[in-house]
Amino acid sequence: MYNITVVAGDGTGPEVMAEAKKVLNKTGDVFGKKFQFNDYLIGGIAYEKFGTPLPDVTIKAAKDSDAVMLGAVGDWKYDTLPPEVRPERALLGIRKELNLFANLRPAIVWEELVSSSPLKPEIVSGVDIMIIRELTGDVYFGEPKGVEIRNGKKVGFNNMIYTEDEIRRIAHVAFKTAMVRDKKLCSVDKANVLDVSRLWREIVIEVSKEYPEVELSHMYVDAASMQLVRAPKQFSTIVTGNIFGDILSDEASMLAGSLGLLPSASLSDTGVSLYEPIHGSAPDLTGQDVVNPIATILSGAMMLKYSFKMDEAYTKIENAIKDVLKEGYRTKDIMSEGKILVGTKKMGDLIASKI
Ligand code: IPM
Ligand code: MG
Repeated sequence: MYNITVVAGDGTGPEVMAEAKKVLNKTGDVFGKKFQFNDYLIGGIAYEKFGTPLPDVTIKAAKDSDAVMLGAVGDWKYDTLPPEVRPERALLGIRKELNLFANLRPAIVWEELVSSSPLKPEIVSGVDIMIIRELTGDVYFGEPKGVEIRNGKKVGFNNMIYTEDEIRRIAHVAFKTAMVRDKKLCSVDKANVLDVSRLWREIVIEVSKEYPEVELSHMYVDAASMQLVRAPKQFSTIVTGNIFGDILSDEASMLAGSLGLLPSASLSDTGVSLYEPIHGSAPDLTGQDVVNPIATILSGAMMLKYSFKMDEAYTKIENAIKDVLKEGYRTKDIMSEGKILVGTKKMGDLIASKI
């Protein structure tokens, strides 16, 4: 039996999480495994109950479990809260608490959905990119930071900082990932301007010596963001820092057609990993049964693969999703002419029924 801490969060988080549980339960039945889901609060809903978006009980439960599944956090109604209790803080907090330094964000364009992308079919067809985003460092966590008065004027500042050890450990994850893909790795930085990026590049090159089979390239982040839409098929595995990875992964989701399609796995070198869709909580759509649960269902599939080594089950879920899409079912975000529009729950039911 696997113990899974579930933090569904705010907005539409609980809706997509319910569908992921449905599909995972079915998969468990088929593969003779039992998943025990234990629900805890995170984000705005946790703030309302405990006065903090990341309560200690949630952290403890997460640390004591075999894996964590997260829906999404945030709602406009919390936008006026002080920064230290905003829902997004919980997300950064749990990443730090669990030492989830490696965030794997696959952007795969499925043939069935080529027409859902705003880009031309010949550009996106066949895209299969793994973005590896460093998740516990960079300007997200760097000190000093703040807003203060200097010479009578407000100034805001953050610190973009990486230690060589932080760069080295994410580089190893990236090279290992590239080794089991097609041995091509592109490291994205801004080494033409930033000192921190120059160190990034230096260390990535140093680590590359241990992986002579991997063809390493480097690209500046501005060029990479342009190339991602101009010719995305040139990329296979990308490794980059926290903020560049945040931005590039949202951009990459549009290759696939919708933010509602991209899952992610956040891994540490010790202990539990966390699985979450890359999208947000879409509070405006809450309770309408319209959001796409596929990203969260796929995040569950990644959990089976990375935390429980159930590779076959991963493929089974992926194929179930492809079958449902092949039959023409679409949620609103990926709807196109001649297809059958279904809601969140129905999409989950259909996928579960194919397992
Ligand atoms: C993501 C999100 C988060 C991030 C936000 C909600 C804090 O955009 O997971 O990509 O910036 O990391
Ligand atoms: Mg983001």
